[in-house]
Amino acid sequence: LSDVTFFDPIQSSILLVEQRMRTQADGFHPELKSALTHLLSAGGKRIRVAVALLVGGMFKADQHRLITLAAAIELLHTATLVHDDLIDGALMRRGNPTLNARWTPAATVLTGDFLFAQAANLAADTKSVRVIKLFTETLATICDGEVTQMFERQFMSDFKGYEKRIYAKTASLFETGAFSAAILSDVPEQTAQDFKQYGYEIGMAFQIVDDILDYTGEQSTVGKPVASDLRQGIMTLPVLFFLEQVKQDPVVTAILDARRVSEEQIQRLLVDIRACGAVDRAIQEANRHIQAAIGILSGYPICTERLALEELARFISQRSK
Ligand code: IPE
Ligand code: IPE
Ligand code: MG
Ligand code: MG
Repeated sequence: LSDVTFFDPIQSSILLVEQRMRTQADGFHPELKSALTHLLSAGGKRIRVAVALLVGGMFKADQHRLITLAAAIELLHTATLVHDDLIDGALMRRGNPTLNARWTPAATVLTGDFLFAQAANLAADTKSVRVIKLFTETLATICDGEVTQMFERQFMSDFKGYEKRIYAKTASLFETGAFSAAILSDVPEQTAQDFKQYGYEIGMAFQIVDDILDYTGEQSTVGKPVASDLRQGIMTLPVLFFLEQVKQDPVVTAILDARRVSEEQIQRLLVDIRACGAVDRAIQEANRHIQAAIGILSGYPICTERLALEELARFISQRSK
């Protein structure tokens, strides 16, 4: 991410967030400590950290509470990835082996639980009951989204359902990050709602782009397996737009019915989806959310943080990792 400048205004705060996260396994079993170090040192874009720090910075939130909030959000995100990779059977994340690639499911689940606990502890340290409540509601929403994705395959080819799923699994946390940072800044309620909406819009775009990268990305750049959503039976925007064109596809139907499909059928379907213009339409859909996010910011006075939040929004739609 060396070519983006939205981290510039928060350079020193980011380091404090990193430090805060790194110490969360101190005094616990050495395996927990090394797992946390492994996860954090692999990188990750820290995009949710940037959102919280920039919104809080814009409205002069108390620095200590803001760092605590950003660490809580990123640690919650990290915990969801640990469990998500176990659930998906994914062996690579951030260019490194996942915990489940090296450990038993039991050890991986427990490490994820530990991270959830420490994230909740940090959220409590913000001393805002409203933020703590948002935090727990968001975790419930994320779990509900993942369970929906797992149990409701037959409803997966519906656009409204797609929007609900990506809100639950991804946009909800972006929303909570931006909203909570505004709440900690004691801004008027309407301002907090605006930044909640900003978080929602960039979060929706973020997951749409993630879903596009699953079709167009390179594993070496993205740092995690690609072309895997379809194989797992997860219907995302490129497939939905493809289906709108062809009306029906026997391989998609088979996947939705959880029937076996061959690798050759999958490969052919991937080629068809990539060729039909569905990816371009999905990009447009992501851009619609980005424009909405930038529109919200335009109602606020220009400052370093506002400009950085605009750049962050644009980065989300253009990212390749
Ligand atoms: C990955 O999130 C999970 C999704 C919500 C798509 P990121 O792409 O932000 O993951 P890192 O933190 O940068 O690795
Ligand atoms: C992950 O969604 C969302 C959560 C971690 C809750 P994905 O399954 O699309 O994320 P990746 O592609 O594995 O990062
Ligand atoms: Mg996954
Ligand atoms: Mg994905």
